[in-house]
Amino acid sequence: MEEQRRLYYLEKMGIQAWVPRTAQSEAIPAGYDPDIPAEQAAPPAHSSVPAGAGPATGLDELRNVVAACTLCALHRTRTQTVFGSGSPRADWLVVGEAPGFEEDRQGQPFVGRAGQLLTKMLRAIDLEREEVFIANILKCRPPDNRDPQPQEIGHCLSYLRQQIELIQPKIILAMGRIAAQSLLDTNVAIGRLRGTEQYFADTRIPVVVTYHPAYLLRSPQQKRKAWEDLQRAVRIRESQE
Ligand code: URA
Repeated sequence: MEEQRRLYYLEKMGIQAWVPRTAQSEAIPAGYDPDIPAEQAAPPAHSSVPAGAGPATGLDELRNVVAACTLCALHRTRTQTVFGSGSPRADWLVVGEAPGFEEDRQGQPFVGRAGQLLTKMLRAIDLEREEVFIANILKCRPPDNRDPQPQEIGHCLSYLRQQIELIQPKIILAMGRIAAQSLLDTNVAIGRLRGTEQYFADTRIPVVVTYHPAYLLRSPQQKRKAWEDLQRAVRIRESQE
């Protein structure tokens, strides 16, 4: 990618563009505790397969299955399901938590403020939204944007697993605690998962954990770490080629 364009999007992400990338890494304070405070652990959620939801044979079929899903109470309060968007042959799968107000209204993932930051984060590593696939752990909006509940994750994760099987991404970017802990079936804090080698279930698909864009909007000082995560993801992806 042309350097000027990268600098432009870094600046848009809120990262001072004049700071050399090596200096950015060095600037992390020694002894920093990477755990984000007050984050509750999500329970393991790999084991639950929705009753009556047999594996779909294609993404469109799966989209229809998801649109008709009534496995948890969220179907009563949703405007519509948010299946995901992007290329069905994407090398990069970006996974968020759950649809919010705008996503529920539009039926598309990451279209609110956090989504705008996600778009900039992707552009900073030379990716357009259309060439990745963007999905969420939950396909329905939790009322009042509350955290997804364990049984909701348990039901919905089967759909994400099928999406992964169908798309066969080369790398998964887990945005935030819920996505990371659900994908990796762990209660480990996000700060401890960042920067560690992880794979999705029993596959060799690397999962790179980073902060959720909504969290970065609230805590812009963490954007530098998110940038490091993105750079790490790019290095992993390059090493696969
Ligand atoms: N936050 C998410 O995790 N996903 C979305 O689609 C929107 C906001």
